[in-house]
Amino acid sequence: MKYINKIFSIEKVSAIKLAKRFGTPIYCYSYNKIKENVLNFRKNFDNFKPLICFSVKSNSNLYLLREIKKLGFGADVVSIGELIKALKAGVEPKKIVFSGVGKTSGEISYAINKKILLINAESKSEIIKIEKIAKSKRKVVEIGIRLNPNIDAKTLSQISTGKKTNKFGVEENELYRLINLIKKSKYLKLSCLSVHIGSQILDYKPYIKMLKILGRIIDKSRHKFKFIDLGGGMGISYGDKIKKLNYQKYSKEVNKFYKKYKAKIIFEPGRSVIADAGVLISEVIYIKKTNYKNFVILDAGMNDLMRPALYRSKHKIIPAIKRNQLQKKNIEFVGPICETTDSFLILKKFQKIKEGEILVICDVGAYGMSLSSNYNLRPRPIELLIKEKKINIIKKRERILDII
Ligand code: LLP
Repeated sequence: MKYINKIFSIEKVSAIKLAKRFGTPIYCYSYNKIKENVLNFRKNFDNFKPLICFSVKSNSNLYLLREIKKLGFGADVVSIGELIKALKAGVEPKKIVFSGVGKTSGEISYAINKKILLINAESKSEIIKIEKIAKSKRKVVEIGIRLNPNIDAKTLSQISTGKKTNKFGVEENELYRLINLIKKSKYLKLSCLSVHIGSQILDYKPYIKMLKILGRIIDKSRHKFKFIDLGGGMGISYGDKIKKLNYQKYSKEVNKFYKKYKAKIIFEPGRSVIADAGVLISEVIYIKKTNYKNFVILDAGMNDLMRPALYRSKHKIIPAIKRNQLQKKNIEFVGPICETTDSFLILKKFQKIKEGEILVICDVGAYGMSLSSNYNLRPRPIELLIKEKKINIIKKRERILDII
C-alpha cells in the first residue's frame, strides 16, 4: 500500500477508484501484505515450528480466514460463532484452540463434538462443566488451563490481560489444585498450559518474564504438558513512531524454553497478522470551521472503527491524493455519530482538504470491522480484498433495510 503518482493505492488499485465504484466507507485489505505478515511471523519462530492459530476476533471475515488458512495457520476462537466460521473457512479442527472466560455448555459441547485441538479453560467451574459434558458424551477431552501469571505487559490498561486484577486465567496456586483435580478425572486430559498477557505489546521483556514464570511453574507442577500456548499480543507500530517488537530476542528465549520442555509451542497472533493490511477509506462530508479548530467530518464513524473512541488509540489519517499545500490549524477528524468520543485524531497540520475528498485511515485490519456495530443505526461498510490486482468483494455493504 503506497502512493503511486500521488494517489494512495492498494496493490496498484487507486483508493479514489474504489471510492467512486463502491461508495464509502470501505474496509480494504491487501492480500500481499497479509501474506508477507504470515510468512514473517512464521519465519520469526521457524526454529521450533510452532502451531500458529490466527486470532479470529481480530478479523473474522470468512474470505480472509480462508486465505490465512491456506497459508497454513490454524485458528484461535472465543465463541461458537468464531468456531463455526473457522470451520467453514476450512481450518482443520486439530488446529483450533478455544479460549475465553465464559464458555457456555452449548459452546463446550459443540467444541467437543467437532474434536478441536484444545479447550483452554479459565476457571475451576469451567473445568467441572467440561468434565460433566465429556462424561455425558463418554469422551475423553484434551484441555488446557490458562494461567494468570500476574505480569504487567506494559500496554494499554484496557487490553492488558495477565495481571492478577484481570479476569483472565487462574492464579498459580489454583493451577496446582486444578492439575490434581484433572488427574483424578477419567474424562479429562490436561495437555496444555496457556497464557496470554495482553495485546499491542512492543517490549519483549514482559514475554521473557512470562517464560521464566511458566518454566518455574512447570518444574514445580511436575506435569508433562504436550502443548504450551503462549497466546498472541505482538504489537505493531501505529503512526509514525517506528517502535517494533524485538522478535529475535523473544524467539531465542522461546527456543530455549522449547528445548527444555519439549512441548509443542502454540501462538495466537491477531493484530500482527492483519492490522497493517487493512485501511478504511472514507469521504469528507463537511468541514466545519470554528475559532478553535476545524472539524473534518467523515462518513466513517466510531461504529465503523471503534478503537479511537474505546482506547484513545491513534490511527494515521492520510489523504488519498497527495498535494503540497499545507494548512496549519488544529484539525479534528470526527465521525457523524452523536457522541463526543466519535473522534479519530487531532492534528496540528494537514494538507489543504475540501469537502468531498477521500481520506484513508491506516492500520485498521485488526479490531476494525470486528469491533464495528450498527450504533446510530448505521449499516456496516463493504469489505474488499485486493489480490493480484483483482478487486474482490469479501463482504457486501449492509443495506439500511437489513438493519431496520
Ligand atoms: N489470544 C487471546 C487469548 C486473546 O485474548 C487475544 C486478544 C489474542 C490471542 C490476540 O491478540 P493480538 O495478537 O491480536 O494482540 N480490541 C483490542 C484488542 C483486544 C485483544 C483481546 N485479546 C484492540 O483493538 O486493541
